[in-house]
Amino acid sequence: MFKEKTIVLGITGSVAAYKAADLASRLVQAGAAVEVIMTESAQKFIAPLTLRALTNRQPVTSMWQDANKFSIEHVSLADAADAVLIAPATANTIARLACGLADDILSSTVLATRAPVIIAPAMNCNMYENAATQANIAALKSRGFTFVEPESGRLACGAEGKGRLAAAEVILAALDAVLNRKNDLAGRSIVVTAGGTREPLDPVRYVGNRSSGKMGYALAAAARDRGASVRLVSTVDMPDSSGLSVIRVETAAQMLEAVRDAVKGADALIMAAAVADFRPSTVAGDKIKKGATSLDLKLEPTPDILSEVKGDFVRVGFAAETVDLIGNAKKKLAGKNLDLIVANDVTAPDSSFGAETNMVTLLFKDGHAEDLPLMPKRAVAEKILDYLAVRLS
Ligand code: CTP
Repeated sequence: MFKEKTIVLGITGSVAAYKAADLASRLVQAGAAVEVIMTESAQKFIAPLTLRALTNRQPVTSMWQDANKFSIEHVSLADAADAVLIAPATANTIARLACGLADDILSSTVLATRAPVIIAPAMNCNMYENAATQANIAALKSRGFTFVEPESGRLACGAEGKGRLAAAEVILAALDAVLNRKNDLAGRSIVVTAGGTREPLDPVRYVGNRSSGKMGYALAAAARDRGASVRLVSTVDMPDSSGLSVIRVETAAQMLEAVRDAVKGADALIMAAAVADFRPSTVAGDKIKKGATSLDLKLEPTPDILSEVKGDFVRVGFAAETVDLIGNAKKKLAGKNLDLIVANDVTAPDSSFGAETNMVTLLFKDGHAEDLPLMPKRAVAEKILDYLAVRLS
């Protein structure tokens, strides 16, 4: 995956620094030359010797490390890098990069490089969510840095929340996407839907589903990175929507209208959204009060967007199933006149709503099928787009 690539791996002072050893090892196994830079605090968590043994190179730990070498270290690493990966990245390092500081070897290298920079944060959840950190992340994103979002869960400090370093597979997939970036969708216009629709019951309640929107967002971001112009019709907000034209909707009816409009002149429609099949027949004008011994909800069907929206574009659907995955998906492929359906067993571990990963089978109109292994949603997105790129070429 990373043959003949030089990756500068920046390690900063987080307890997750030990995970950088695994990343370094995987990068080496994938063919990369790995140059490690460790901040002073990183060295309190993990010894440079570990990284030297794994990468077969001496980690750089200071601006002034090797005065005998006739090269200015931060410039030579900045020039040599095909990518700079900072994992884990602390709030402090992110803040220093956002300010453009160059007061240690890592920040100097980042300032001096023209290579893409990928940052995988790890920190306490309150520090991550702090407005200062979020503003710094937004500033760096707007300058083209790629962020690999931390996971939610139990943190080393005992708190529960978002701040755990993303899984190695997710970080490496992001690095792969940046390094081996294709431009095979340049000039194409793609409409993607994401999230689950919400059908109102009264002014405060709705009937909804568990879709997180992550698959749709992964598709939209991947299509954007491959050069497409992307219109994203979504029921959820995601932190990184730069370069996407986002149309926010809530209900199936609103999504239908937005998609109808967005597909005009589009080359493809990818319906990753989980659209409600039924909505409350009446929406109460005021909040429904408790007190009654039971409450009957009358529901009516919503429009089927894929069936309603016609036009000359490639049509991709998803089939979220709990039983007879392939049988049900094949029926939808034919019934909704699709070119490709992505069959997704939502009961499988690591493949359910909200997960970072997905395991799917691609079923094509011509009858052939491709089983994909469990992989990050971004990698699933790339596979779907590989098909689209060929179809549209
Ligand atoms: N879909 C749609 N409009 C709807 C419902 C679904 O366009 N009202 C799309 C989804 O975005 C997805 C595909 O149709 O791409 C299949 O959705 P899914 O929920 O799996 O199937 P349904 O057609 O809703 O059938 P069922 O719920 O009975 O499985």
